[in-house]
Amino acid sequence: MNSKERIIQLRKELHEHNHSYYVLNMPSISDFEFDSLLRELQELEAANPDMYDPSSPTMRVGSDITKEFKQVQHKYPMLSLGNTYSKEEVREFYDRVRRSLNEEFEICCELKFDGTSISLTYVNGTLQRAVTRGDGEKGDDVTANVKTIRSVPLKLSGEGYPAEFEIRGEVLMPWSVFERLNEERAAREEQLFANPRNAASGTLKLQDSSIVAKRGLDAYLYFMLGEALPAEGHYENLQAAARWGFKVSSYTRKCSTLEEVFGFIDAMDVERKNLPFATDGVVLKVNSLRQQKNLGYTAKSPRWAIAYKFQAERALTRLNEVTYQVGRTGVVTPVANLDPVQLSGTVVKRASLHNADIIEKLDLHIGDMVYVEKGGEIIPKITGVDVDARFMLGEKVRFITKCPECGAPLVRAEGEAAHYCPNDVACPPQIKGRIEHFVTRDAMNIDSIGPETIEMLFNYNLIKDISDIYQLQLEDLMFLPRMGQKSAENIVSGIRASLDVPFERVLFALGIRFVGATVAKRLARAFKNIDSLMNASFEELTAVDEIGGRIASAVIAFFSNDANRSLVERLKAAGLQFEVGEEDQQPHSDILKGQSIVISGVFVHHSRDEYKDIIEKNGGKNVGSVSKSTSFILAGDNMGPSKLEKAQKLGVRIVSEDEFLAMITINV
Ligand code: IVH
Repeated sequence: MNSKERIIQLRKELHEHNHSYYVLNMPSISDFEFDSLLRELQELEAANPDMYDPSSPTMRVGSDITKEFKQVQHKYPMLSLGNTYSKEEVREFYDRVRRSLNEEFEICCELKFDGTSISLTYVNGTLQRAVTRGDGEKGDDVTANVKTIRSVPLKLSGEGYPAEFEIRGEVLMPWSVFERLNEERAAREEQLFANPRNAASGTLKLQDSSIVAKRGLDAYLYFMLGEALPAEGHYENLQAAARWGFKVSSYTRKCSTLEEVFGFIDAMDVERKNLPFATDGVVLKVNSLRQQKNLGYTAKSPRWAIAYKFQAERALTRLNEVTYQVGRTGVVTPVANLDPVQLSGTVVKRASLHNADIIEKLDLHIGDMVYVEKGGEIIPKITGVDVDARFMLGEKVRFITKCPECGAPLVRAEGEAAHYCPNDVACPPQIKGRIEHFVTRDAMNIDSIGPETIEMLFNYNLIKDISDIYQLQLEDLMFLPRMGQKSAENIVSGIRASLDVPFERVLFALGIRFVGATVAKRLARAFKNIDSLMNASFEELTAVDEIGGRIASAVIAFFSNDANRSLVERLKAAGLQFEVGEEDQQPHSDILKGQSIVISGVFVHHSRDEYKDIIEKNGGKNVGSVSKSTSFILAGDNMGPSKLEKAQKLGVRIVSEDEFLAMITINV
C-alpha cells in the first residue's frame, strides 16, 4: 500500500473509532492505539501536502487563531420555542394542535439540552460550516471550533443523506468537564463560569481552536432541515441522522396521547438528575413534517412545538441577614444568610443576591420567607419572596454605602450593576487578594505561602502589602501559631528563590488590571525595564503589538498612583528583577530583521509560543494574519485552510518547520 492509500485508510478507520468512542460511547480501540494511528496519519499528511483534506480526523486538534468570526446569514432563520412551566399550558398546546389539524398526529418528545445552539451544513456528506444562532438571522461562523468537537462527524457514513442539508442541535459541556474547568480557573484566579451553558457558549467563541479542542465539548443534534430529507417524520429523520454518524439522544419518544406526553415529562424530570449534562426541560414537536408545515410559524416560533421547562428545585426559608463580601478587585457582593434548608441534595445556608438592583427588585426585608433556587448554577440564588408569609415587616434591606472591610465610600460605575470599594491600597481583602495573586505559580511561584498563611501574616500585621513579604524573617514566621520550623524554612527559601523570577512574571505578579501573563510578557519585551514602562505614554504603549487602549490606560492608571510607584521602589530595593535578563536584552541575530511572519499549523520541535519567541529574538515580527506584506508563513502540520488559500492567492512563501529551523539554526 502506498502512502496515499494508507492516508485514506487511516482517515476512514479513525473516523469510525471516533464515532464509536464519542457518539456511541463504545470505544473500539485503546486511547494509545488511537493516538498512534492519529500520529501516523499526521506524519503522512505532512509528507503529502497534496492530500490536504479539511475533514481529516487530524483537523480535530484545532490550529488557527481567528481574529474575528465571519458573520453568516442563516439559510433558514433560527427561531426559538414557546416556553412554559405549566402542564396546563402543555394541554392547551396539545388541544390547539388537535383542533388545527383535525386528524391523527404524533408528538415527538425530547430533552431540552441546556447548552448553546448550533447549525451545521453538510454538503455531499462533508461538514461545510457551523454557525451559531446569533440573532436568529445571522450568526458567527465557528466551523474551526466545532470541528474540534469529537462527536460532530466531519464526514458522514452510511447512505441516503441529501446532497445538501442543515442539521441543528446543542453544543454542551458535560458537568464533569465544567467542574474541572472551573477548578482550573479558580486556581488561576480567573472568573468562574456560572453554569455549563455559559461555559459552552464561551468556549465556542474562543479565538484559538486548539484551546477549544481541549475543552471537552459535546453536541446533540435535534432538528434537520433541507429539501430532500430521508423521511416524512421528524423522529425518523433523527434516526437516519444517527445512522449517518450524528449524536442523537436516545431519550426521544414518539407519543400518540397527551397522557404519554405527561408520562415522558415526569420520567425525564427524574432521569435528568442522572444525566452527565444539564437539561432544563422537554421539547414537544409535532412529528409529521407535513403537519408541521400546515401548522406553520408565528413571528418568533413554530406553532408545532413547545418547550416545557422543569421547575428549578426551589425551597422556602427565612432570610436572617444580608452580609457583604469584598473581592480582590474590590467588587462588593451581597450575600443572603438563611435558615439552613435542604435543596437538591445539599444544605443551603447562604445564597447570592448579586447586586443592589436585584435586592431592590425583590423588595427584600429581614425576616422574609424567601425562595431559594439552584438551577444550572452552582451558587444558589434568591428568586422571590413569599409576601403572604409576612406578618411583621422586618427592616428593609438597603445596599450598604460604605465598604464593610475598610469603611471607604463605595462607588458604582455608570451603567454597571456592581458596587466596588475604591480603596485598593488599604482595603484588607483587596490586599490579601493581591498577595494571593502575587505568589501564584505563573507569577512569583512562592507555593509555600498559601491563602491561610497570608491570612495569618496579615492578621499578625506582618504583611501590609506585597513588598513586606521580602522583609519576613524566619523568626517572624516561627512565631505564628501552627507554623513548624520546616514550613517556615520553606517559606523563606521560596521567597528567596522568587528573586530570580524574570521581569515579565514580576510584572504580571503586580496585578495591574488587564495585564495577564501574555500582556506582561509583551510589555516586558517592549520596554525592557520597569522605569521605561512606568514613564511610557499612551502612544508608546499602544504602539506595542497587541496592546490596545484599555490595557494602556490601565497601565498608566496603575503607575500614576504614588502608592504603586513606591511599592515598585520597595520591591526593587528587595532585589526583584525589574529588567529583562541579559539574553532577552539583545536579539540573538537580525536574520529576520524587517520580516513579518505568520505562524500557522501544528509543530513538532517547538510550541507556537516558542516560535514566536524565536522570531522576535532573531529580529522578526510575528503577525496574526496573512497579507501582502507578509514575508513568509512558518507552516506546521495542518495549516489552516483559509490561510493556505490566502497565501496562495497573494503568492506568499510557505516555509516548513525544518526549513525555518535551518534558516536560523545557530540562533535558537
Ligand atoms: S428545536 C424551531 N429541540 O432551545 C425549533 N431546541 O428556545 C428549533 N433546545 O434555541 C429548536 N434542546 O437552543 C429544539 N431538543 C431540542 C432542544 C432545543 C434545546 C434549545 C435550542 C433553541 C432553544 C429554544
